[in-house]
Amino acid sequence: MKFATEAIHTSYDHNQHNRAIMPPIYQNSMFCMHEIGEDIPYRYSRVANPTRKTLEDTIAALEHGVAGFAFASGMAGIDTIWRTFLRPGDTIVAVADIYGGAYDLLTEVYAQWGIKVIFADLTLPENLDAVLAAQPVKMLWLETPSNPLLRLVDIAALTQKAKAHGVLVGLDNTFATPYLQNPLDLGCDIVFHSATKYLCGHSDVLMGVAAVKDEAVAAPLRTMLMNTGAVAGPMDCALVLRGIKTLAVRMDRHQYNAAILAQRLQAHPAIEKVFYPGLPEHEHHALAQRQMRGFGGVVSVYLRQDSRAAANSVIKNLQLVQMASSLGGVESLVNHSASQSHSGMSRALKAQLGIREGLLRFSTGIEDIEDIWADINQALNTVC
Ligand SMILES: Cc1ncc(COP(=O)(O)O)c(C=O)c1O
Repeated sequence: MKFATEAIHTSYDHNQHNRAIMPPIYQNSMFCMHEIGEDIPYRYSRVANPTRKTLEDTIAALEHGVAGFAFASGMAGIDTIWRTFLRPGDTIVAVADIYGGAYDLLTEVYAQWGIKVIFADLTLPENLDAVLAAQPVKMLWLETPSNPLLRLVDIAALTQKAKAHGVLVGLDNTFATPYLQNPLDLGCDIVFHSATKYLCGHSDVLMGVAAVKDEAVAAPLRTMLMNTGAVAGPMDCALVLRGIKTLAVRMDRHQYNAAILAQRLQAHPAIEKVFYPGLPEHEHHALAQRQMRGFGGVVSVYLRQDSRAAANSVIKNLQLVQMASSLGGVESLVNHSASQSHSGMSRALKAQLGIREGLLRFSTGIEDIEDIWADINQALNTVC
């Protein structure tokens, strides 16, 4: 089956659920046993729940993995994955422009528990060689395209290098979604999503999901999730299952709008630079063409006036596009990364990574592009 069909029909058999066309919401904490030791498929929802299982199987199918997982939030998912495979004394190497919340988790929690954390600019795959040569590494954590500057890394090249050193590779695929990129096919062991974003798509659920390439990785992750209990609830799973059914059409529209927005932003006098992997000028456009099946719905810009005041003027003058701390929903959003997603980073690190005060990230929704553009254009005109 092609993706759009699979997203609607995979992993659910209505014959096993009273012919219900949509997966029922098993809003249960437990399931009845008729005798001691009875072997029943579900006992307690922290361990497994039928609605969550349908979602987990769906993610596994769409990401070409053997098993899926659904967590209470994206960060709960990242934490569960890292805690499963990292022990005090181990080293994790993460892409330098990792999502701000994941950066905070590594520096504020994992480093305190004796995990060695290395952030590396891996936009050139060769940069990984020196890191791998300098010490044993347990895990490599990639994120591509990255948040908010949409930098790409070469998944196949990096994975090949990591595998030669026996390193486990995880990848945050939130921005691309399985519609545009399947990291397990490129050699990764674990693919992760903040399902809060495109997979849900309607800004009404907080969730993380993951899929893994083989059972040897799935088994310890399953045990950790069961023991620590950061599982997604049945209602949220049903909402994300519903979101996934329209993922293909939503992504097509997000990308259509984002491509037009990126082109028009390039010509606006208030803009110094536009970041969108679909633009031929983007530093990783060729890699994006090779590695992805589309360029996604997020467009970031540097304002010519690189100040919080200018960014705030644009934000305050937007009428349709709302300022909010997320992305990937049907509505267009703007984010000021320096004070929102990446506020935990030091000023020096933000400067090094290019998280300027005059950086704005637009999550292009699926409204009519002319309405989106009219709003952003008039707001930008206030800082010309
Ligand atoms: C790329 C990326 N990864 C992970 C997360 C964390 O997910 P959540 O907010 O669902 O915990 C986010 C949230 O913004 C994100 O953008």
